[in-house]
Amino acid sequence: MPAQKLWLRCEKKEFERRSALTPTTAKKLIDAGFEISVERDEQRIFDDSEFEAAGCTLVPNNTWSSAPTDVPIIGLKELPESNDPLPHTHIQFAHCYKRQAGWDSILSRFHRGNGTLYDLEFLTDASGRRVAAFGYHAGFAGAAAGALALAAQKQGGKLGQLEPFENEDAMVNGVKSTLGGSAKGVKALVIGALGRCGRGAVDLFRKIGLDEDDIVKWDMDETAKGGPFEEILNVDIFVNCIYLSSSIPPFLTYNSIAAAGRHRQLSVIVDVSCDTTNPFNPIPVYNVNTTFSNPTVPVALQNELPPLSVVSIDHLPTLLPREASEQFSLDLLPSLLELPQRQTARVWTDAEALYKQKLAEAVQSLN
Ligand SMILES: NC(=O)c1ccc[n+]([C@@H]2O[C@H](COP(=O)([O-])OP(=O)(O)OC[C@H]3O[C@@H](n4cnc5c(N)ncnc54)[C@H](O)[C@@H]3O)[C@@H](O)[C@H]2O)c1
Repeated sequence: MPAQKLWLRCEKKEFERRSALTPTTAKKLIDAGFEISVERDEQRIFDDSEFEAAGCTLVPNNTWSSAPTDVPIIGLKELPESNDPLPHTHIQFAHCYKRQAGWDSILSRFHRGNGTLYDLEFLTDASGRRVAAFGYHAGFAGAAAGALALAAQKQGGKLGQLEPFENEDAMVNGVKSTLGGSAKGVKALVIGALGRCGRGAVDLFRKIGLDEDDIVKWDMDETAKGGPFEEILNVDIFVNCIYLSSSIPPFLTYNSIAAAGRHRQLSVIVDVSCDTTNPFNPIPVYNVNTTFSNPTVPVALQNELPPLSVVSIDHLPTLLPREASEQFSLDLLPSLLELPQRQTARVWTDAEALYKQKLAEAVQSLN
């Protein structure tokens, strides 16, 4: 059987340093008989030479459109906007299955090019759970951003621009030193603590020195009584990591914050879930997503009340590109190893069936 080929494209989205394949996973695929082309990319957290050492063939930046059409192209984020037909098979996040802005035009590019899309968000195991997701590092990085925002606020300031960290140790040490060596004494509450993002947030708090008793971990059982919850107002940092699937009572409101008065402890909310514009957003005290250059937004409160800010960045794993990529890519690896059997392997046939369903909807919408 001829070798399975795979082409890792560069990422064109600003600040995006993550990668769908890493030198570690590329090496494992090559050991299993794959031939891998990697576009040179200075933006990627991994050096080109690391891929070369793993046995990949380096190719010029942004040349995937000239690859033979039978070579699947793998990347993470959306392709740059264009109207060009797409004749290849693409494995990536395309953000076009939930009728997001421009969804039908994106799908029409595949339709017109006779290509195929395997959307990474919808590759699932037999129980319907995603095979690979970035949640853990989103929670980890979100909690770090929350601790940095708390430190800035304690000094009467506002958190400035965030830059991706070289690795996890650099993030943990950076946060600890900003907080004067350790975060001991800080209290945090994580809702959704049993999920991927929640586990990451809890781990960051442990690593920066919070006592275990000062990390309050809530999931479905603890919120079953229905909010708003006074307990949230009695910690320094609240991190929301739930997967919102239906309407629930809010976790806190302007009124519950005002009722806590001038002695409220809560200083920072990190909304990792970022259901910012969702009508059921359980944190209805802000309405914008924040960014790396401007990571916090203040909650509009009466002047005599202590400040409260929200971090609502929707691409948090980008702050920890190396570890986030390694974990995502390792989780994806078993599915990639089945790529040569994609006409019969369930993970790929299910993804293709979903693609065809979405494609039909897009074609109908455009007619
Ligand atoms: N901001 C970012 O950069 C970023 C990155 C990745 C994921 N996310 C988002 O984070 C959210 C969580 O993702 P995940 O992968 O951790 O999901 P997950 O399914 O692994 O975990 C969600 C957890 O929330 C709990 N939960 C759900 N409803 C709850 C409620 N009402 N009260 C208490 N707990 C509740 C669940 O029991 C589960 O433990 C998703 O909305 C996802 O889109 C954000």
